[in-house]
Amino acid sequence: MKPYRIAPSILSADFARLGEEVRTVIDAGADFIHFDVMDNHYVPNLTIGPQVAQSIKPYCKRANGSPVALDVHLMVEPVDALAQLFAKAGADIISFHPEASRHVDRTLQLIRDAGCKAGLVFNPASSLEVLDYVLDKVDLVLIMSVNPGFGGQSFIEEALHKTALVRGKIDAYAARSGRSILLEVDGGIKADNIAKVAAAGADTFVAGSAIFGQPDYKVVIDAMRANLESVK
Ligand code: DX5
Ligand code: ZN
Repeated sequence: MKPYRIAPSILSADFARLGEEVRTVIDAGADFIHFDVMDNHYVPNLTIGPQVAQSIKPYCKRANGSPVALDVHLMVEPVDALAQLFAKAGADIISFHPEASRHVDRTLQLIRDAGCKAGLVFNPASSLEVLDYVLDKVDLVLIMSVNPGFGGQSFIEEALHKTALVRGKIDAYAARSGRSILLEVDGGIKADNIAKVAAAGADTFVAGSAIFGQPDYKVVIDAMRANLESVK
């Protein structure tokens, strides 16, 4: 079994008890904390900013003290100034949508210069072409399996095909460069469809409503891991 990572999206958490929710979901087995930033400009919704990231950062660790990555998904336009603020706030990974940056290569560099891993996010209808030219500066590719803006939407099946395409690109890149890139999928993932997302090539899985919509987060995360074990 590959090292699969489960990244609960706190978009579906109880925002009135956010620190406690982060701690509970980490105790339940979360590998990353996925942090969705929406600006009512790039997407038609408004969520949380760098100050909230800074407030939850101290909670992003396991009971034994080992860190859990704060995985910031920026759905904002423009990107650069906010990316820098999130880096200062404690983000470990910062991902953005290439359409939202005028200079994608520069934004990737700026995120890495700030000490974070850099990710590129592709909407359901977005072309992957830009990826071919910036693989050397990308640490994570995020494939959207819903249109960005809201939790609780249905998984778009065509994202499986796109995930497989990206798996091919990043494996070919790893073979020539020796550097690995994470492949994360976001939107509509649940215990009953996570295995096919993994079979398509993903190694990192965002799930918001599937986890925070249930009373016991560990039951859901354990079910996800059990289903991942069936993937070759
Ligand atoms: C959507 C966000 C997702 C969302 C996933 O724009 O990027 O991370 O929270 O939520 P679920 O798992 O409920 O589809
Ligand atoms: Zn997200």
